[in-house]
Amino acid sequence: MTRRILVTGAAGMLGSELLLRVPSDCAAIGTDLRAAGAGAPAVAAVGIDLADDAAVAKLWREHGPFDGVIHGAAYTAVDQAETEEALALRVNATACAVLARACARAGVPLVAVSTDFVFDGEGVRDASGAVRPYREDDPPRPLAAYGRTKLAGELLALAEHPRGTRIARTQWLYGPRGKHFPGTIVRAAKEKGALRVVDDQRGAPTTTLELAPALWDLVRADAPSGIYHAACEGVCSWYDLAKASLEEAGLAHVPCDPCKTAEFPRPAKRPAYSALDAGKLAALRGRRLKSWREALRDFFAAGA
Ligand SMILES: NC(=O)c1ccc[n+]([C@@H]2O[C@H](COP(=O)([O-])OP(=O)(O)OC[C@H]3O[C@@H](n4cnc5c(N)ncnc54)[C@H](OP(=O)(O)O)[C@@H]3O)[C@@H](O)[C@H]2O)c1
Repeated sequence: MTRRILVTGAAGMLGSELLLRVPSDCAAIGTDLRAAGAGAPAVAAVGIDLADDAAVAKLWREHGPFDGVIHGAAYTAVDQAETEEALALRVNATACAVLARACARAGVPLVAVSTDFVFDGEGVRDASGAVRPYREDDPPRPLAAYGRTKLAGELLALAEHPRGTRIARTQWLYGPRGKHFPGTIVRAAKEKGALRVVDDQRGAPTTTLELAPALWDLVRADAPSGIYHAACEGVCSWYDLAKASLEEAGLAHVPCDPCKTAEFPRPAKRPAYSALDAGKLAALRGRRLKSWREALRDFFAAGA
């Protein structure tokens, strides 16, 4: 039987990829504030305020019933969130609670996408003293408003729908549609001809091409509720990612030098180290997401 899955944020970078990668046993119904851009799959329900219980109940009546929800909608402007925390909280936390309540009422799973920004970036050390990737049960401690609001969303969703909420934390996301780091680097290399990129923040760049199938698996699986880390394998700095992007784009000759975060002050503090240990999700799916380097190669090879 075909499972009808509501995908929120369906016009966004991740949501549009989710709509393109619907498994054969599912049908996706997309919702977002706005219609999809050119070349992206159409969004079925536009302009729904997910932080409003009545609006979500109406969505459920008119487009449902749904057999699950993948919640990709979010307030993602990390720096702007510093001055708009109330709005970010409404989108990132209240909407999670509203959707979790709706899913609990219907008895269906909710996959809510979250972020590495719930961690402080100080890292956790293993027995040998080396910093290891964050595990799901490592204590969160967000450094800035965006991470605070996303953590609040995680907690509310788990509280409202304790048996059916699966939080999927990801990081350093990029994909064929939307604004992202590899695209910005390639554009800047062509426009400026020389670049400086920070090399003291480390994480795992994760492509929506790899993440979307993992989220589909997570909503379809008979998986325990709780937190799952969902990121490509390995760890690198933004500088490493810039160099690799230039290589893949045939721009390796463009000068690119490392620099420090302190040289580029931004309103929101970022975690210095935020690699995520995705072993729990890998055990569920029977495979890991690709390494960040291989996934980057695939992304450029696909002409994205
Ligand atoms: N991008 C990253 O590096 C990254 C890293 C870790 C985790 N994540 C998480 O991954 C998920 C997807 O991120 P993304 O990069 O694909 O984000 P995105 O491209 O910004 O997509 C999010 C979508 O949600 C929509 N939205 C905003 N407020 C809404 C509301 N009140 N009701 C309904 N829809 C609303 C946005 O519409 P507008 O554009 O019109 O506002 C946008 O289309 C988010 O949960 C994000 O927190 C992202």
